[in-house]
Amino acid sequence: MYRRLIAPGALAASLLLAIPASAADFQPGASGIGDPYYPAYGNGGYDVSHYDLRLKYQPKTDQLEGTATILASSTQDLSRFNLDFGLTASEVRVNGKKAKFARSDVQELEVTPAAGLPKGTPFTVVVKYAGKPSDVKLWGFTSWQRTPDGGVAANEPEAAAWWFPANDHPLDKATYDVSIAVPDGTQAISNGTLQSQSSKLGWTRFNWRSAHPQATYLSTLAVGKFDITTDKTADGLPVINAYSKDLGANEGAAKASVERTTEVAEWLESVYGKYPFEALGGYVPNVPSSFALETQTRPFYSPKQFANGSNVSVVVHELAHQWYGDSVSVRGWKDIWINEGFARYAQWLWSEKEGEGTAQELADYTYAQHPADDAFWTVKPGDPGPENQFDAAVYDRGALAIQALRNKVGEKNFFAILKGWPQQHAYGNASVSDFIGYAEGVSGERLGGLFDTWLFEPSKPGASAARASAD
Ligand code: ARG
Ligand code: ZN
Repeated sequence: MYRRLIAPGALAASLLLAIPASAADFQPGASGIGDPYYPAYGNGGYDVSHYDLRLKYQPKTDQLEGTATILASSTQDLSRFNLDFGLTASEVRVNGKKAKFARSDVQELEVTPAAGLPKGTPFTVVVKYAGKPSDVKLWGFTSWQRTPDGGVAANEPEAAAWWFPANDHPLDKATYDVSIAVPDGTQAISNGTLQSQSSKLGWTRFNWRSAHPQATYLSTLAVGKFDITTDKTADGLPVINAYSKDLGANEGAAKASVERTTEVAEWLESVYGKYPFEALGGYVPNVPSSFALETQTRPFYSPKQFANGSNVSVVVHELAHQWYGDSVSVRGWKDIWINEGFARYAQWLWSEKEGEGTAQELADYTYAQHPADDAFWTVKPGDPGPENQFDAAVYDRGALAIQALRNKVGEKNFFAILKGWPQQHAYGNASVSDFIGYAEGVSGERLGGLFDTWLFEPSKPGASAARASAD
């Protein structure tokens, strides 16, 4: 590839002296996207717009294999770039031509295209790969959980690199087509809508599409024997739920909770505005862990979430994330309060509506529950550090901050903020300081002090701050 004609104006000279782009001009993309909490997560130098995954999974052996086709665009003159990936690649092509590839670190696949990629060029990467996701340990763990009849990819902040090569950070969202073949009689669940399903040679292929920008950790794949229910909302959106056939005693409670997805989403629309995606649902694989995750359009719930009977509150939490977390995603992982504070607060609002305690009562209770010397107050929800990213303080003190905001700006401004924010940043990324600025703009109040107290002080706010919120 040739670039930058020298000797402008001297036609003959420029034709002769047109120089090939030199390796010195083209630099490797960074091996991380620049998140201070997780320096290795994501990569620099390019931006993905679409992942097309064509896969096959054999539950008996935990063997996953297939081809990922990635549509991306370079954001610098790129000599090589990394993908975050733990399985084994057998061939990599860039723009159709074979590329060199090597594992530079356990989670880093380093790809050197035959020719440098000038800044701003769309390019295509094809990765052929195979492996056993549950064997892969990245950062000491696997985000792939095997089940008796399949497996599930779901985790936060990282889940992608165990099942597809990715620019694995929420800053680089993309759309997805996930096509997955599993043995006949087994099902495969992913995000969005099921475009089609067909069987041949003993394998059933499920073709899923997620049509709005989606963060890598919100992309999911679950294989197993599922009961799948399909329905439509009043607005005509497909609602697809999937329940492992092996939920045992938790089956009734799981269904009694997840079947309320449409009702909960309708209520959330009254608080957070129009539902941002093209489909809804939930799935419950038979994993032993106790975990839930707001996988886009279709949250993941583990059966233990329903061990005490129905748990609509967790459905409220995961669906609230569709606005706060999925449509509007963190810029960096330090912004986690925007996800978890607002998902917890949605549970408080649901409780208020159901007559099970108002948000103010729950705030007072939470405040009183943790004495001043409780380590709970040492975690700053606005910047908790990677080790406390999912600490209870991010959720509960995070919701206290939102109650304090409600009391400061009044009901009208407060609900305008709750509904306006997901609209303002739909399908994008935003930070805690963006939120504070937005809330100040809507309310006309200065809110720096309030948020410092509730999000950034490593100590229990005084009774006066708490009472100010109660008055
Ligand atoms: N976002 C998930 C939820 O609130 C929680 C994820 C917790 N992640 C973790 N690694 N512990 O439902
Ligand atoms: Zn959450």
